[in-house]
Amino acid sequence: MPDRSDSGVGSLSQGERALTPSLQGDGFTLRPWHADDLESLLRHANDPAVSRGLRDRFPYPYTREDGEAFLAGRVLTPGTLNLAIEIDGHACGSIGAQPGTAERGHTAELGYWLGQAQWGQGVMTRVVALFAPWVMDELRLFRLQAEVLDFNEGSARVLLANGFAEEGTARCAVYKRGVLHDLRRFARVRRSL
Ligand SMILES: CC(C)(COP(=O)(O)OP(=O)(O)OC[C@H]1O[C@@H](n2cnc3c(N)ncnc32)[C@H](O)[C@@H]1OP(=O)(O)O)[C@@H](O)C(=O)NCCC(=O)NCCS
Repeated sequence: MPDRSDSGVGSLSQGERALTPSLQGDGFTLRPWHADDLESLLRHANDPAVSRGLRDRFPYPYTREDGEAFLAGRVLTPGTLNLAIEIDGHACGSIGAQPGTAERGHTAELGYWLGQAQWGQGVMTRVVALFAPWVMDELRLFRLQAEVLDFNEGSARVLLANGFAEEGTARCAVYKRGVLHDLRRFARVRRSL
């Protein structure tokens, strides 16, 4: 397994980027972030509808400084395996898995987003179908989990379509933009590596 403990472009060091292949999907490519993805990143990320379903570390407005910090590896937790979703030559979104530590090192948290222009065409369903089995092998995961805010039916459907089971709801878990939300938890598991 490659050492993914230091940072570089996005969450990957130069060495890790060299070890990370491009994954070719139907209508998209998953590949490491490039320093010159900044303009495309800003165009798609600076959208309240995108950040609404994400953690506050993905802010709105999404400024040039935010994009530069992300691409410089200062936003994601070291060890996160995060790839750009490239469509028609542009980075239009992102998908990543953040592994736990110590006894939780075989569990990771899945996160993803897509620029609004690409929504509703089945892209993220296909992206997760490609990424989830790959990253479970790459990071030697028994468990890949995801947390979804109560209103985010599209994200829940992406997970259910990809073999994630809904495990329960953490009530009143998130207070975001003045509204209290429940958090639905989903996971895809396997019992051998
Ligand atoms: C959630 C998100 C990733 C979905 O991506 P997408 O490419 O539009 O999803 P898909 O086109 O693959 O749609 C998946 C399913 O959800 C449904 N869906 C999509 N958006 C929906 C919505 N707003 N409400 C209800 N259903 C929706 C689709 O009809 C499809 O249903 P089907 O499986 O029955 O055909 C995208 O909207 C996004 O990036 N949102 C902002 C960031 C975010 O919330 N990330 C997830 C955090 S948990």
